[in-house]
Amino acid sequence: MHPKNSLKTRLMIACALAAFVSPLSALAEPVARGVWLGSTDGAAKTPPMGWNSWNAFRTEVDEAKVMGAAQALVDDGLARKGYIYVNLDDGWWQKRRVTDGRMIIRTRIFPSAATPDGTTSFRGFTDRLHSMGLKAGLYTDVGHNACSQAYDLHSPNLPEGTAGERQVGLDGHVSQDINLYFREWGFDYLKVDACGLADFAPDSKLVKDNGYIGLTPEIDRASLNRTDSVKVERRYAEVAAALKQANPDNDYVFSICNWGMANVREWGKEVGSSWRTSSDITPNWSSMLHNYDSAVKRALYAGPGHWNDPDILFIGAGDFDTDHLTEARSHFTLWAMLNAPLLISYDLRKAPQSLLDIWGNADLIAVNQDPAGNQAIVAYDSDDAQILVKTLADGHKVVALFNRTASPAKLNLLASHLKLKNDAPIQLTDLWSKAGITFTGETEFELAPHETRVFSVQGARELADGVYLSEIPGVINVADDGVREPQLDPTVHRMIDPWAGTRSGGSRPQYAGWGGAQADMTPYAQALQIGGHTYDSGIGVLGNSLLQVKNEGYATFRATVGVDDSTSNRDRAVSFTVYADGKLVAKTPPLKFGDAARDISADIAGHKIIELLVTDDNVANEQPVVVTWGEARLQK
Ligand code: GLA
Repeated sequence: MHPKNSLKTRLMIACALAAFVSPLSALAEPVARGVWLGSTDGAAKTPPMGWNSWNAFRTEVDEAKVMGAAQALVDDGLARKGYIYVNLDDGWWQKRRVTDGRMIIRTRIFPSAATPDGTTSFRGFTDRLHSMGLKAGLYTDVGHNACSQAYDLHSPNLPEGTAGERQVGLDGHVSQDINLYFREWGFDYLKVDACGLADFAPDSKLVKDNGYIGLTPEIDRASLNRTDSVKVERRYAEVAAALKQANPDNDYVFSICNWGMANVREWGKEVGSSWRTSSDITPNWSSMLHNYDSAVKRALYAGPGHWNDPDILFIGAGDFDTDHLTEARSHFTLWAMLNAPLLISYDLRKAPQSLLDIWGNADLIAVNQDPAGNQAIVAYDSDDAQILVKTLADGHKVVALFNRTASPAKLNLLASHLKLKNDAPIQLTDLWSKAGITFTGETEFELAPHETRVFSVQGARELADGVYLSEIPGVINVADDGVREPQLDPTVHRMIDPWAGTRSGGSRPQYAGWGGAQADMTPYAQALQIGGHTYDSGIGVLGNSLLQVKNEGYATFRATVGVDDSTSNRDRAVSFTVYADGKLVAKTPPLKFGDAARDISADIAGHKIIELLVTDDNVANEQPVVVTWGEARLQK
């Protein structure tokens, strides 16, 4: 059994093992299920939008600041555009009451929470937000203690009292706290941090100096091997179950905040509405790149109801302030293309028009909120520049050209990047300036330093009667990506750590994800290629994998499949099987590295769930086999 496997995958493997006991050390294979295994819990059908107190105020938050932001969301028209969640981050709590474990609010900064008997309640606060047409979010931690208790020790708003009273996190109080926050206080959104699982080792200086009750870390930020991903997932799953129980109407958002650790990129989609993919953003270009990179190659793991979260927007500060509007627009455009939650964190009581115009760009909000939930795919990749393409529900594309560097950059945009016909005119509309451009085949842009150009696109689709799977990540559930041991993703920009500086030997990859399923490239970021033939479109994945695809009215599935030329395991054979609602509809014979690609075609008319299974005779401790579903597509 592989320690990395999520709870759901382990159940699937157990079923497979019960049916088939494999010889010696052959790997347990995933099995097609005929039912959608992706989570449908929670209310985040599109990425959550709103305001969060953290980047703007850290723990120096108070009721006037939050209500000021809420009023501004309404008055400035941002709420009307979708910014409805008003999320109170760290700093709101005073203590956990000893007598009954009830959380008590710091009424000095939230005066409306005071009650005559000192019990305190946020009900008045959430009622006011609700009466303004807004929704209310709250912050907690999955361990004993919260992040401010480790990183904001100077704060006037730290929990007070005995060690027990200062245990404000969910640990040991999951149902009690969730019921209080949702049923009694009326919140709609919960952000659940994880410092309590990472920073409060019983013998640490932090715990000793501050008299905390320690918790043996389950997350080691510097070591994936020393992180107990299964335990961390189990804790978040317990919170998810309590949230579901406290919200029978399913109207809640569960924001997992464990900063891309504990292999959350694999299980986050099954547990939460969103999951942080990286450490905290700072108002710095390099930090924005780092956080963006942590999410940009995870498109197949997100979709309606579950989103990669590269963190709160930092528009309005530092490299993204009113003197850096090019950078601020890039930051916003990229978050829109990633289907990231759009959470403003700025003192909105005094927001300049130039920033309101960025948050308020209705065209980009529509891109982010498109109901298909297809996160943008990387159509051109390099350290200097990228081209991202997102397919909207109506089939139209949006393209973003991103200059990561501090120098001007020339970018060629090709019809093929857009999966549009090379010989038909393509019309672009700039989503910032609204200017139009028409070209055929190819055009060139010169981008200013740090600039992102973004366009809506009209043109003739390459595939007139269908869609490539890599265009529709929103309907794909990666039930099992075949990754056995999570590996750190080396492609995330390695910034100088904003907190540690250069006080170490270097900046290291931090987030598991390398080897995950990819659109239009292999799991290790190579071009898709079988038998020397390159495929511009397709899905790259490892052997022993199961992808589920929702079929919205197509009649045929087609692909050209085989072991990818880039595989390092060149010995093992793999079979590709297609199921439609649990029924086997196509299967290849075993294929090895060097074998010619095989066309595969299946009748899927009337079927709702298509499953793409790759099985192999791989054995434990071997490199996985890299496989390619070339030009995988659904056709009328
Ligand atoms: C962590 C989170 C931040 C914020 C702070 C609060 O660092 O990642 O987003 O919530 O804690 O202390």
